[in-house]
Amino acid sequence: MSTLKIFQASKIKGQELEVEAKDVYKRSMKSLGVSLLDSAIVKWGAAAGAAFATGVGGLRVTTGNLPPQHLFVILFLTVECFRPLNDLNRLWHQSFLGFAAARGIFNLLDEPLIVEEKSDSTSKAFNPYLPNLTFKKVTFAYSGGKRPAVKNVSFHIKSGEKVAFVGKSGSGKSTIVQLIMRFFDPQSGTILLNGKDIREYSFQDLRDKIAVVFQDTYLFYGTVSENLKVGNPNATQEELEKAAQLAVAHEFIMELPKGYDTVIGERGVRLSGGQKQRLSIARAFLKDAPLLILDEATSNVDALSEEKIQHALGHLMKNKTTILIAHRLSTIQNADRIFVIDDQELKEEGNHGELLFKKGFYAQLIKAQYE
Ligand SMILES: Nc1ncnc2c1ncn2[C@@H]1O[C@H](COP(=O)(O)OP(=O)(O)OP(=O)(O)O)[C@@H](O)[C@H]1O
Ligand SMILES: [Mg+2]
Repeated sequence: MSTLKIFQASKIKGQELEVEAKDVYKRSMKSLGVSLLDSAIVKWGAAAGAAFATGVGGLRVTTGNLPPQHLFVILFLTVECFRPLNDLNRLWHQSFLGFAAARGIFNLLDEPLIVEEKSDSTSKAFNPYLPNLTFKKVTFAYSGGKRPAVKNVSFHIKSGEKVAFVGKSGSGKSTIVQLIMRFFDPQSGTILLNGKDIREYSFQDLRDKIAVVFQDTYLFYGTVSENLKVGNPNATQEELEKAAQLAVAHEFIMELPKGYDTVIGERGVRLSGGQKQRLSIARAFLKDAPLLILDEATSNVDALSEEKIQHALGHLMKNKTTILIAHRLSTIQNADRIFVIDDQELKEEGNHGELLFKKGFYAQLIKAQYE
């Protein structure tokens, strides 16, 4: 509503809605007309039948051809005779709603799977040590995308290494995260985790080992605690609070009307962008997985909170392999290695000093940001 108001677009959107509403009205009236006509015919038939039976029966009683008590039996039976017809008419109409719904459900069920889980993958397959990750000539285009979102990208992240991805908006950074999580499979190339193709792992085994703070946080309709427990369903209240404290979220949670039991998400208490992000970081703290991915995790947080979160993340990253994505370059300067993505391709890699010295893409980004 606020977007429509700011752009003075309420009237145009209102007109569009009016057209849609009229269409719905016309269609509803049409189907209602058909079903009412049907039931009218059946009901009239039933009533006429009953009247006819009464007439004939009455006549025969008066002429003495029928004992009066038999007439009563006939009258009861006529009503019963027409009942199945009435039911059939009602169910016939209902069945069409069923057909329409089933069509939608079957379309969904018939959708081909985008990523297939290997049936014989076992959970024991995962090496318990700090993960290392390799991309080998990975190319991926979204379905319907005209050009690849990730083009021929190769890199290797060592166990326990902290790497950062930087690059312009739309260069493919978040897509790399989606590929690691196997939300999609690349059209060519392979992704290896601990030297093994990620397609060899079961979904659970793969995703159990990865904690991600996504660029846009999704909160479920539910309490703060329930939302945090997405990170670890068995977490105790103490653990929830500890994670929230590390993510600099505990204070604002305590200020909510019911603290950790406040209902948030759609239709619940609205949180600010930075508050949502801090909850999402707390989730990652709770999950405590060996591969940590932070995609613009602190982009909406104020500088002071960010410093505190970075400090906490510093502890979290100590025994983890970490992938950082950030536009604010100050947050990634002490990464072990920085990968620069431009135009969907990996263009440069090295640490902050090396890349500055190179005077390439990274140096340009830094220059633009500090100017
Ligand atoms: N679900 C999707 N379906 C189709 N195309 C997509 C989808 N997600 C991203 N894209 C496209 O893929 C390209 C790379 O997007 P991606 O989100 O990886 O960029 P990014 O580097 O993370 O950008 P930003 O810094 O703005 O977050 C873009 O051109 C984008 O339009
Ligand atoms: Mg992104």
